[in-house]
Amino acid sequence: MNFRKLMFLLGLAIIFSTAATAQNYKYIGAAKCKMCHNKPDKGEQFKVWEAGPHAKAMDALQGDEKNDATCLKCHSTAGSVDSGLLAGLKADEGVSCESCHGPGSHYKSAAIMKNKKMALSKGMTDPTEETCKACHLGEKPEGHVAPKKAWNFDEFVKVIAHDDPTTTN
Ligand code: HEC
Ligand code: HEC
Ligand code: HEC
Ligand code: HEC
Repeated sequence: MNFRKLMFLLGLAIIFSTAATAQNYKYIGAAKCKMCHNKPDKGEQFKVWEAGPHAKAMDALQGDEKNDATCLKCHSTAGSVDSGLLAGLKADEGVSCESCHGPGSHYKSAAIMKNKKMALSKGMTDPTEETCKACHLGEKPEGHVAPKKAWNFDEFVKVIAHDDPTTTN
């Protein structure tokens, strides 16, 4: 094999291996997280989320708006990601766990979840104010209802808090 051909094949191999890792992380839906994150003594995150504004984000949309990509990109996790990455997540879940914590297909096992560093290397993300701002201060369509309250991270994050009282963070 000549040098140019070798470099070409190496290049291809690098492109494919990066593409494969990025695309392997898929969105599995809140029901999968519920299995482990709905215990009352550990803060029942699923129940708290279900009762909060994000699980109801699709209820704000009427009729055809429920299929309108312009609205779905902020009112539903499924509508905000590439459809090829959906593995169980449905649009009617609204804004669910994986919009803030990252696609769960590869970090969802207990052994990985218990090791935060490992979970972060398998698609989990630490939610920051930037995560929220992508939707809350993102470009809304003309005529969109005005927010009831001006954006304030510290206040808003308290409204959706779902701490686990048994962990340190
Ligand atoms: C098989 C059980 C299991 C499943 C399924 C699961 N988790 Fe976890 N998760 C755990 C365990 C165990 C921990 C470690 C903390 C603890 O003991 O509760 C954890 C920790 C976490 C943490 C805290 C990480 C940190 O240290 O800051 C987040 C956030 C989280 N999980 C989100 C999710 C999301 C989102 C899903 C669904 C996509 C999910 N988990 C699915 C078991 C699970
Ligand atoms: C850039 C993100 C974004 C886009 C795009 C978007 N929304 Fe929203 N929407 C929000 C956020 C965030 C809220 C919460 C209130 C606020 O801060 O504006 C909201 C709130 C609403 C509410 C009020 C819900 C309530 O409970 O009071 C309605 C109705 C609504 N949106 C409809 C729509 C429709 C219809 C579309 C598409 C034409 C759309 N939105 C597109 C982010 C978005
Ligand atoms: C709108 C964003 C958002 C959504 C949706 C969301 N979370 Fe969280 N979650 C957060 C934030 C912010 C924290 C606090 C992170 C910190 O303290 O570092 C958190 C913390 C957690 C923790 C760690 C709690 C602790 O004290 O150790 C777990 C577990 C968790 N979330 C699971 C879930 C599950 C399961 C769902 C869906 C049922 C969900 N989250 C939905 C933003 C979100
Ligand atoms: C994928 C888009 C998206 C992300 C990311 C997101 N939100 Fe939201 N959020 C919404 C939408 C849409 C609503 C409106 C739901 C409704 O009322 O129908 C909302 C509503 C809320 C509300 C209720 C506000 C009100 O006036 O009714 C709070 C509080 C909130 N979000 C906090 C947060 C925080 C804190 C974060 C980041 C940790 C975050 N959100 C991330 C889309 C998002």
